[in-house]
Amino acid sequence: MPAMTRLIYFSPTSTTKKIVEQIAVGFGDTSVTHHDLTRLREGLNLRLGDGLAIIGVPVYAGRVPEICLERLDGLSASSVPAVLVVLYGNRAFEDALIELRDVVVAKGFAVIAAGAFIGEHSYSTTTQPVAAHRPDLADLAKAREFGSLIASRLRDGIGAALPVIPGDLPYKERMSLGGVAPETDPGLCTLCGTCASLCPTFVIRVDDRVLTDAERCLKCCACTKGCPPGARTLHHPTVDARREMLVNQCSERKEPALFL
Ligand SMILES: Cc1cc2nc3c(=O)[nH]c(=O)nc-3n(C[C@H](O)[C@H](O)[C@H](O)COP(=O)(O)O)c2cc1C
Ligand code: SF4
Ligand code: SF4
Repeated sequence: MPAMTRLIYFSPTSTTKKIVEQIAVGFGDTSVTHHDLTRLREGLNLRLGDGLAIIGVPVYAGRVPEICLERLDGLSASSVPAVLVVLYGNRAFEDALIELRDVVVAKGFAVIAAGAFIGEHSYSTTTQPVAAHRPDLADLAKAREFGSLIASRLRDGIGAALPVIPGDLPYKERMSLGGVAPETDPGLCTLCGTCASLCPTFVIRVDDRVLTDAERCLKCCACTKGCPPGARTLHHPTVDARREMLVNQCSERKEPALFL
């Protein structure tokens, strides 16, 4: 059994975090350290020599979000086993898992298992739900099973081989929606500051009103989902069309896919 389990994740709306945590529960190590990259200003500076790393990121447009690559930049390892997780909003994970694999292998990890799990889509709203409330109890149980399977494989000495992971090369081209960000209804806003404290890119300022630097907004919706009175919403013609497409075409439940 490895010396310590490290959970390394970026998770603005906490669905990735929930899965990574449950994999660790199933893995059964009592010594767990969290490296939460979500609101880390400087990025991670960490070299691992032993233990197990469980590394989780959300899927943005079929890829690993660029901000995750930046925050993982200072991470490296010498042949430390790693479990990879991508969390997607019930549409598709496309090239995100192979991209994460390539990044993590280049950092010196030995990837022993990977999983694509489903979480509530960032764009999901109460009136237009997409994978609402996922990961649910079944997803969390699946994550624990996955962790337990990885532990038993490591005990049996299986798992040195890199699992086959779906995805294409070159990766899908990145899509950017620069200049789009959630807006605040001043009639509902209480100026509580919660949105600013939740924002992974620190682009929200709250004084006598809420100001957002839209150029650096991820559209992660941590601020809209976390706003206590529901004053903050993401509505833009492109996002609204995307949400509509998701509701119409991605409502059928997808299940986690495990590779090991
Ligand atoms: C900009 C953006 C792009 C996204 N692209 C995809 C996608 O390509 N496929 C998908 O199924 N979900 C997509 N999602 C949904 C997220 O992958 C999903 O909501 C994820 O659970 C969020 O993780 P978190 O809760 O850890 O922040 C996207 C979300 C955002 C904000
Ligand atoms: S979380 Fe909502 S209510 Fe609080 S400051 Fe932000 S927009 Fe206003
Ligand atoms: S302002 Fe943008 S980046 Fe910040 S929490 Fe809201 S959606 Fe995410």
